[in-house]
Amino acid sequence: MPEDNSKKPIRYLSGVQPSGRLHLGNYFGAIRNHIRLQDQGECFYFIANYHSLTTVQDAEQLKKFTFMAAADYLALGLDPAKALLFRQSDVPEVAELAWLLSTVTGMGLMERAHSYKDKVARGIAPSLGLFFYPALMAADILIYRSDKVPVGQDQIQHIEMCRDMAGYFNHAFQKEVFKLPEGVLSEAPKVMGLTGGKMSKSDEASVIPIFGEPAEIKKKVMGIVTDSKGVAEPKDPDQNIIYLLYRLVAAPGEAAGMEKGFRQGGMGYGDAKKMLLSKLEEVFGGERREKRKKMDEKPDLVEDVLVAGAQRARRTAARTMEQVYEATGLPSSKIKKAVWTAGT
Ligand code: TYM
Repeated sequence: MPEDNSKKPIRYLSGVQPSGRLHLGNYFGAIRNHIRLQDQGECFYFIANYHSLTTVQDAEQLKKFTFMAAADYLALGLDPAKALLFRQSDVPEVAELAWLLSTVTGMGLMERAHSYKDKVARGIAPSLGLFFYPALMAADILIYRSDKVPVGQDQIQHIEMCRDMAGYFNHAFQKEVFKLPEGVLSEAPKVMGLTGGKMSKSDEASVIPIFGEPAEIKKKVMGIVTDSKGVAEPKDPDQNIIYLLYRLVAAPGEAAGMEKGFRQGGMGYGDAKKMLLSKLEEVFGGERREKRKKMDEKPDLVEDVLVAGAQRARRTAARTMEQVYEATGLPSSKIKKAVWTAGT
């Protein structure tokens, strides 16, 4: 009898790279959604440390950023009783699956990836890992049998590629091993940064870190470059990073007030920056900052969450891999275990 999937909860999966401090783009583009979704389905969230090795090649930095990303999630409201949080590398089968997907994936598909070209254009070394990146991401998604992948706009093409790879695999091995996942965008799929383009971890000057020190955030906000229009002059809010960020943190009525002030004249850049700063403090300061500080004092608590999350995630991954071994003709995990334990 076919499996009845109608009552199965939706499985959401997403990852974030520990390649720098998490910023407002990560939060409003993805993390806020991740935390909301923990009440709506089964959630698997991980810190993509394998992916980060394409840019962070310093062991201490990688460990530090991984911890910081996990601590940020917890301080922002991720509840480990509701959602899994784990390190990507604690389920190393994803790297194995990425290889298997690469064997059925044409070069043409990989060569069309925008993010590879963008990263190389921004000066990141064009390593094989950077090129292979979408295959590892596809493995992340498929190994946990994810239904939906909540991300920012920049990851949507990778999810399309994942669907393609899943289809190639099922076709090549004549078995419906993988189901095709769907991307889910937040209300702010592309948050602009302070330097004109998208807010991005690889451009430190573009970011406002979620949990930066108040003095640093003040310096960043008050230092936003504007044109020289006077207070009374009308200004275009749609091109104005102060307003665009304010709209994310303020209530709709407050944002409408700033927008009107800019359009009609009467809203100066200095005052708008102060309003943004005070809202940022309201949203990310206080209780959340305190919670984040506690994580630094008790790193073991964060580690415990990551280990427990990985244990559960790994069980799901192992079930998928069993089907992958069967479909491809690779030895099952039972045989592998016998090989690994022989002679020990
Ligand atoms: P990463 O670490 O670049 O970003 C984490 C999440 O934040 C979103 N994001 C943004 N959203 C809106 N505006 C911005 N300026 C902005 N900057 C970042 C990203 O879209 C992402 O959702 N490849 C992924 C990590 C990953 C992953 C996965 C994601 C690895 N495997 C499997 C989903 C599923 C990445 O580099 O995200």
